[in-house]
Amino acid sequence: MSHSYSGLSRVLVVVAAALVSSSSLCPQAWGPSGVQYGQLGKSVMLCCPGVNAGTPVSWFRDGDSGMLQGPDAGLGNELVLVGADSSDEGTYICRTLDGALEGMVNLKLGYPPARPVVSCQAAAYENFSCTWRSSQVSGLPTRYFTSYRKKNAPEAANSQSEGSSTGPWPCPQEPPGATRCVVHGAEFWSKYRINVTEVNPLGASTRLLDVSLQNILRPDPPQGLQVESVPGYPRRLRASWTYPASWPRQPHFLLKFRLQYRPAQHPVWSMVEPTGLEEVITDAVAGLSHTVRVSARDFLDAGTWSAWSPEVWGTPSTGPLTKIPVEDQLPMQPRETEDQVDSPAPPRPSVQPDPQPFDHRDPLEQVAVLASLGIFSFLGLAAGALALGLW
Ligand SMILES: *[C@@H]1O[C@H](CO)[C@@H](O)[C@H](O)[C@H]1NC(C)=O
Ligand SMILES: *[C@@H]1O[C@H](CO)[C@@H](O)[C@H](O)[C@H]1NC(C)=O
Repeated sequence: MSHSYSGLSRVLVVVAAALVSSSSLCPQAWGPSGVQYGQLGKSVMLCCPGVNAGTPVSWFRDGDSGMLQGPDAGLGNELVLVGADSSDEGTYICRTLDGALEGMVNLKLGYPPARPVVSCQAAAYENFSCTWRSSQVSGLPTRYFTSYRKKNAPEAANSQSEGSSTGPWPCPQEPPGATRCVVHGAEFWSKYRINVTEVNPLGASTRLLDVSLQNILRPDPPQGLQVESVPGYPRRLRASWTYPASWPRQPHFLLKFRLQYRPAQHPVWSMVEPTGLEEVITDAVAGLSHTVRVSARDFLDAGTWSAWSPEVWGTPSTGPLTKIPVEDQLPMQPRETEDQVDSPAPPRPSVQPDPQPFDHRDPLEQVAVLASLGIFSFLGLAAGALALGLW
């Protein structure tokens, strides 16, 4: 039953195809010669190579003597397969009536291109790259054409032509054939329209994506993170790191950082935002190993934070002070050792003072001292005035 239906529809399509069929030569093959392509589930037309359009031919499957379509089908040098499925893939032979000319075609089936999925990323402010993947497997040889246009920053463009854009320029695929292309020398304030067009023998499909460097900027994580103890300071750790190698150092484009740390087995991170390339943690838990990590972001908050650097472990110093700087030679207060012992509380940055001698006085503390001095002198004056009055 399904056979007779299929046969009937084949005949109908053959008639329709005969009406539409033009007398052009075989379309230029895409990809390797001798291969023709069709869409799974749709009608597929094969063209007998080397035979003029309109010349009747017979069609055979390779290795099968049964004729698929006779020369009287009225289709000239073409073969029509209705509702092609994967069993129709393979080699076909076509032959003119006199047998003088014979052609061979390899049929491959798949799907037309679908709009690719594109995303762009920038690890620094000079170049950015876009990567893509197909949104539907076509099963056919596929190429991607990648280009971009630039929409100039308002101040750079002529005041009249608000939407002035330039290009398109190719976005070179690096390395060739990779699913990635790079826009070199991008401008920080410009907008770019990326065109990634997926092309296969059955057609083309374009994805356009608008990007600006400011939005996609995501630095690589800082590098070279080191965590060192500070001799004589059982609650200090000094962390230092460097800029990621991919970030060109220029005075106008700086990175800022954030640093996280926690003692072993403690689930919650403490965080500080260091201004430079080093930070002294002052509330580490004495005697415990700590893990530290750091991430980076554009100094003016463009884009997003980098991924975290690999974690590095460090344990505060337990040994005595080897060499005491002059300003640190203040006597230890007895309370502090006990404080270190019975403080299982999680570290809170900048809340608990370092129990070690101060390197420098907290400005807030200085203000407090000045204020209390002021109050005292006021009270003294008042008392003096009172005594004078009484007298
Ligand atoms: C940007 O691309 C240029 C080549 O055009 C290259 O010399 C430079 O190193 C790249 N910059 C970064 C940060 O990768
Ligand atoms: C995108 O690129 C394709 C291939 O280069 C091109 O044919 C198409 O016109 C482009 N589309 C736009 C909107 O620029």
